Amino acid sequence: MSLAIAAQGLDVGYSSLRGPVKVIAGLDLEVETGTFLSILGPSGCGKSTFLRVVADLLRPIGGSISVMGGEPRLARSRRDVGFVFQDATLLPWRTVRANVGLPLDLGQGRLSRRIDDRRDELLALVGLEGLGDRYPHQLSGGQRQRVAIARALLGEPSLLLMDEPFGALDEITRDRLNDELLNLWRRTGITVVFVTHSIAEAVYLGQRVIVLAANPGRVIADRDLRPIKDEDARCRREDAAVVAAMAEMRQALGRAA
Ligand SMILES: Nc1ncnc2c1ncn2[C@@H]1O[C@H](COP(=O)(O)OP(=O)(O)OP(=O)(O)O)[C@@H](O)[C@H]1O
Ligand SMILES: [Mg+2]
Repeated sequence: MSLAIAAQGLDVGYSSLRGPVKVIAGLDLEVETGTFLSILGPSGCGKSTFLRVVADLLRPIGGSISVMGGEPRLARSRRDVGFVFQDATLLPWRTVRANVGLPLDLGQGRLSRRIDDRRDELLALVGLEGLGDRYPHQLSGGQRQRVAIARALLGEPSLLLMDEPFGALDEITRDRLNDELLNLWRRTGITVVFVTHSIAEAVYLGQRVIVLAANPGRVIADRDLRPIKDEDARCRREDAAVVAAMAEMRQALGRAA
């Protein structure tokens, strides 16, 4: 079994006026390569903070973490990690295609093919073919989120971190993007770590769901969902086993607050 993420006794904090504040304490978490992991937890428990550590945007203050078999810094320099933030964070003065290519312009890209081909291929992958010349204000919220996903995939990451990427979307669009994301995950075999406040979304997408508790952030529930998914890693939202898993996660979240 190879691990995409291995955290041991991880402590993460921020400095405040009153000194350092520990947000995550003693977090142990192993994520197998190729897994789709959902993370649930109350607001402020440290979900985004954990993703920042994995993406090497924040240094832990204690414990250890390895990402794709090495230091987070190494994974970052190899472009092994893609990040989709909660708000699409597109640059309004750039076209869709130029937004997707942003990491290249920032000198972070690792390209296996011609840039233009690759960008258009990614836009097609997320269902935005033909919209490359538009500007962000000419897109719907769901389309902007897809641009952000295409951009995160540009460096061909083996680990994709998604921080509430569909939180601002209507339920129908969200359901559709959930299915597109699952298809993409199946096709590429990459590891996905997906933070959400939606229990239904976490259970529908995840092969595994963990629940983090607050003050300090730590894992209080860890559920393998593969037994309730079919051989294609699919499930139906209304299946009794899926509904039961959702109820279980709701209880865990009740304990986490
Ligand atoms: N840059 C920062 N400086 C100081 N404290 C911070 C900083 N960023 C986050 N925090 C604090 O760390 C804690 C965890 O924040 P984090 O953003 O990881 O929570 P979260 O689980 O992602 O919450 P949400 O579900 O609301 O997005 C919070 O108490 C927050 O106030
Ligand atoms: Mg957050």
